[in-house]
Amino acid sequence: MEQYAVKGGNPLVGEVEIGGAKNAALGILAAAIMTDDTCTIDNIPDVRDTNVMLQAIESIGSTVVRKDRHTCEISGKNIIDQTIDNDYIKKIRASYYLLGALLGKYKKARVSLPGGCNIGLRPIDQHIKGFKALGATVRIEHGMIVAEADKLTGAHIYLDVVSVGATINIMLASVMAEGTTIIENAAKEPHVVDVANFLNTMGGSIKGAGTDVIRIKGARSLHGTNYTIIPDQIEAGTFMFAAALTRGDVTVKNVIPKHLESISAKLSEIGCQVEESDDAVRVVATGQLNHTHVKTLPYPGFPTDMQPQITVALGLSKGTSIVTESIFENRFKYVDELTRMGASIKVEGNTAIIDGVNKYTGASISAPDLRAGAALVIAALAADGVTVIDDVRYIQRGYEDFHLKLQSLGGLIELVDSEKEIQKFRLKTG
Ligand code: UD1
Repeated sequence: MEQYAVKGGNPLVGEVEIGGAKNAALGILAAAIMTDDTCTIDNIPDVRDTNVMLQAIESIGSTVVRKDRHTCEISGKNIIDQTIDNDYIKKIRASYYLLGALLGKYKKARVSLPGGCNIGLRPIDQHIKGFKALGATVRIEHGMIVAEADKLTGAHIYLDVVSVGATINIMLASVMAEGTTIIENAAKEPHVVDVANFLNTMGGSIKGAGTDVIRIKGARSLHGTNYTIIPDQIEAGTFMFAAALTRGDVTVKNVIPKHLESISAKLSEIGCQVEESDDAVRVVATGQLNHTHVKTLPYPGFPTDMQPQITVALGLSKGTSIVTESIFENRFKYVDELTRMGASIKVEGNTAIIDGVNKYTGASISAPDLRAGAALVIAALAADGVTVIDDVRYIQRGYEDFHLKLQSLGGLIELVDSEKEIQKFRLKTG
């Protein structure tokens, strides 16, 4: 089983290139099968979740040609089956986008119930509410969600909670429906906008993505296109916090600084210097970090996917900080692991009360999920001594070459596979 061995203490310094947004890619890869023409999609991150999505669309007959590591040509022309059921797809939450895409194109979809990170109860009632409003019947059968319709007709849909997944799924299901669909209380995340832009380049007519009302005028059909996925806001944010924790100086390149505003604002608040240019953000940290309070919120608020990263930073800050998680109800499980490294954090419900400590110390810990796993790695880079992190497969779901990028910034981190390799790492890093 692969693990990361990390020796803390080196400030991260240098430039790092950010890849395409995983969560945008998942919606876009599903959307690409909605035309019989070919879509060429660039800047797809080479991570486990996107590869699982590509396998899934291939398994029903789509053609996927990898032009290079980050570019694929996809054609949904030869799809022979609207059933997606394999052990891999159950593990990714975004498998639900195939429901919207297949329902929208073929009026029929059968997809295994979605999995994804274990960060609390994650219902999909709002997706189902949307599909039903468009005229579909939806039922659960043998662990699969089955959605079917004779025809889909535009509808006025009010989301009871702001949901990224439901917003994207309803866009997919309605982009070729008859008439106009209006989604109210829509999610405004950059990846919602990216999926809408992609569908529009395929001939869709989606207006208002990025605001809380989205209008979708059903198109007769969609056509092929060339598209480049936006940079990953959360990968960028993770490296920005890695700079803060290690008192480093890191420039994240190939980003959209506007998408990072809530992250940059918090880093400035805790005492980092943040410099923005057109497509890069530099974070410089000197001296001890200050405490702050933060609450996760839908975009443009502070992202829940950055909550573990800011918590590990506040764990090393002066004074007491409070982090409130308002999106998912069970997203502090990693705090037990961080406590093993010396953090002083009390979790009460959806709130973490953090008493900053002077240092973390290396320990043997596990990555409980994708973002928490990445946060524990950056905590380890700031800790005294060696940390060994298990279950790195979670981190690999969403970060491409994570350890290689950290190494290029001077981080002492290696992917290891045995006790012997860990010993070698300990000897090498002294
Ligand atoms: C997406 C992201 C995930 C991120 C999250 C919030 C993908 C593949 N994943 O997840 O990384 O953490 O947005 O930014 O893009 N909810 C319901 N009913 C529903 C749908 C959601 O009650 O039908 C609730 C959820 O339980 C949660 C909140 O709404 O409390 C937000 O969830 P949502 O935005 O849907 O998250 P995901 O799309 O699953």
